[in-house]
Amino acid sequence: MRESTLYLVPPKQLHVAILMDGNGRWAAARGLPRSAGHRAGVEAVRRAVHAAPSLGIGTLTLFAFSSSNWQRDPQEVGALFGLLEKFFFSEAFRAQEHDVRISAIGRRDRLPSTLLSAIEAAETATAQNDGLDLRIAVDYSAREAMLRTACWMISSTEVTQREFSRRLAEVTHSPAESSDVDLLIRTGGEQRLSDFLLWECAYAELHFTDRMWPDFTSADLELAIRDFHARDRRFGAAPAALANVTAS
Ligand code: FPP
Repeated sequence: MRESTLYLVPPKQLHVAILMDGNGRWAAARGLPRSAGHRAGVEAVRRAVHAAPSLGIGTLTLFAFSSSNWQRDPQEVGALFGLLEKFFFSEAFRAQEHDVRISAIGRRDRLPSTLLSAIEAAETATAQNDGLDLRIAVDYSAREAMLRTACWMISSTEVTQREFSRRLAEVTHSPAESSDVDLLIRTGGEQRLSDFLLWECAYAELHFTDRMWPDFTSADLELAIRDFHARDRRFGAAPAALANVTAS
């Protein structure tokens, strides 16, 4: 009986979100232009995507371009968009082999048309895959998304959290409802959320590492997952051990 129960209840697939910080410093430390750091960052993205399923990750959301990144030098923005375009085109093919579903979240109205086409092509080509759900945040701002959702809902009399989440997914063009983040990882030594998935991270565990993103390996990802499994997630409830003491 026990064995069949194990098959009936698959282990929970984690939603991991990553703030891939440190590309610029990685490049500067080597006397290279910032774009070289972003290029090396793409390789780290591939390593993470490859390792994710075996670590129990069902959804991986990567912050590739924040809405505040428009303030950067147009050359750097152009280089980043070029890398993203290439990634969406090439990954659409690789993803088929690895059963990865790719999508972009964020605003689409300010993106160059060639990047937009690459995104749409990858989304269409991988829509039926049901292995890893890989979401790339491009021109994304959690605050702006929440504000737009709130405006949309202003005429509603009663709004449930579920309904809010559904609308939030729609304003960020997410093909599926965004799930709560279980673990948020930030590389590059800073310890802040930088307007990333603020609603979805309400109960996320946070993992900060000094590793610069281009140096991030599958072993680093595994370490973060192990760290996550060692946490006591209570979602506001009393710790199990203390609950008994309080009740008696
Ligand atoms: C932050 O590091 C990183 C970014 C703004 C871009 C992240 C992009 C990639 C990793 C490559 C493209 C992504 C995909 C999904 C193919 P930073 O440049 O702010 O680094 P710094 O803090 O050291 O200056």
